[in-house]
Amino acid sequence: MKINNPEFVISAYGYEDYPDHNKAEIAFAGRSNVGKSSLINMLVRRNKLARTSSTPGRTQSINFYNIDRKFYFVDLPGYGFAKVPKNVKDEWGELINDYLYHRDNLEGIVMIVDSRHKPTSDDKQMLKWIRSFDIPFIIAATKADKLTNNKKKKQEKLIKNELNLSENDNFCLVSAKTQEGKNKLFSFIGKVSGQFK
Ligand code: GTP
Ligand code: MG
Repeated sequence: MKINNPEFVISAYGYEDYPDHNKAEIAFAGRSNVGKSSLINMLVRRNKLARTSSTPGRTQSINFYNIDRKFYFVDLPGYGFAKVPKNVKDEWGELINDYLYHRDNLEGIVMIVDSRHKPTSDDKQMLKWIRSFDIPFIIAATKADKLTNNKKKKQEKLIKNELNLSENDNFCLVSAKTQEGKNKLFSFIGKVSGQFK
């Protein structure tokens, strides 16, 4: 799959802002600063399509991208900032919950974790949440360019173990820098978006 014409559509602060269409949406979830926007930019072959984060702790938006008029990428606000005040956390939870719970177009989630670290309790919570919605997902362990081959194997094992992934769960090591894992990601995206039927 090669993306030629990605377009930013809207930053949504509530469901009333969601774009109205009948295409599939693939959402990208993960901790703040883990590399969600960078991964989207790598997939769409643009340096600056997905806005990279501004100040942490502000209520962020859900950003929608129209991908070649075939499906949508949805950049979800990052979680896991320890210093965020409670009211912002609540808003974040509501923003994400509204999206996951109500969005009929949602066909798949790319959940991004840092390949160098043990998944955090927030990561575990997020995955539990995703599983409860019964939406197809892939765990993408990013920044793999920072690991040696030996370390990659170790980290893959650790992450799968910590997140209780089974053989049937989708997993890939990725890097926005070297494009490692791109084909595996596209294969998942193609399947859930109905492009590879
Ligand atoms: P929020 O929007 O705040 O939630 O952050 P994000 O998850 O969108 O992360 P973003 O893409 O802005 O990347 C955060 C930092 O990690 C940036 O400095 C990126 O350059 C860096 N980064 C992202 N992906 C990779 C990667 O694959 N390899 C390396 N080496 N650095 C990366
Ligand atoms: Mg971002």
